[in-house]
Amino acid sequence: MYFPDYRPRRLRRTPTLRRMVRETTLSVDDLIYPLFVAPGQGLKAPIAAMPGQYHFSVDTLVQEAVRARDLGLPAVLLFGLPETKDETGSSGYDPDGIVQRAVSAIKEKVDDLVVITDVCLCEYTSHGHCGLLQPDGQVDNDATLELLARQALTHVQAGADMVAPSDMMDGRVAEIRQVLDDEGFTHIPIMSYAAKFASAFYGPFREAAQSAPAFGDRKGYQMDPANAREALREVSLDIEEGADIIMVKPALPFLDVIARVRQEFDRPLAAYNVSGEYAMIKAAAERGWIDEKAVVIESLTGIKRAGADMILTYFAPDAARWIQE
Ligand code: PBG
Repeated sequence: MYFPDYRPRRLRRTPTLRRMVRETTLSVDDLIYPLFVAPGQGLKAPIAAMPGQYHFSVDTLVQEAVRARDLGLPAVLLFGLPETKDETGSSGYDPDGIVQRAVSAIKEKVDDLVVITDVCLCEYTSHGHCGLLQPDGQVDNDATLELLARQALTHVQAGADMVAPSDMMDGRVAEIRQVLDDEGFTHIPIMSYAAKFASAFYGPFREAAQSAPAFGDRKGYQMDPANAREALREVSLDIEEGADIIMVKPALPFLDVIARVRQEFDRPLAAYNVSGEYAMIKAAAERGWIDEKAVVIESLTGIKRAGADMILTYFAPDAARWIQE
């Protein structure tokens, strides 16, 4: 042995050295802020299971969008709570619907903010399922596609910069792409909820969007949390159909899926840090059991380290402030 005294050494980290060798940097540019818009005026109604999140009316939503832009956030994702619900979710594809009005109001007032809309029927159907129902209570995949495409088109006509189908019907990316292209919106990207698991972590969202299914569950069309190989197949199908950005959802319980999708596909990858992930941190922080800021930054950094290029998170405004500090 040439160097009998040699033994491997670990880095001793001073703050500056820590900055130099850091592999993952969380940036405000990575964050997308989900928002809920409801009928009314001057509304900012707290969502009980998601402390710090609100139902906004169009006017207060615009103010929140301004705040997001001023914090440097690049994008918001809109969910709608309509005035009326029916069997076919028609308030979802009404050109004068709540999300459509919200999009044009934001676009009128706020420059430099990418407005993404969630495309799904569950917020607009009386039964709370993500698609049309057959007489036997099963979701009618193919009949739903046309309505989703109509919804996406009305969002884009109102000014949406990107649409994000979250329904998990087969073929919806292709259908939406076709309709947008036919109407001259070839430049509008689709962010597809490609690997969306049937997760218990969506619990608080069901209150936020008032979209709990009236009967049954979503396991027929959302993925089994036990399956990672199937997630890769879902992603590859959505890419074939024309998805520009693909999403894994939820984020923290599915970091392995994020990492595998990152390795196998070259598309921009989004991860959705969902309502239950948010609520858990909020609840523990309120009790003083954890340090909220540190846990949020660690969680979001972990999601990015796993391979996500962008993160949809209700922590977006707080995280933006913390990152800039
Ligand atoms: C609509 C939709 C859901 C979420 C996003 N879009 C709920 C669901 O599929 O049950 C969940 C978001 C969250 O929990 O933060 N399909």
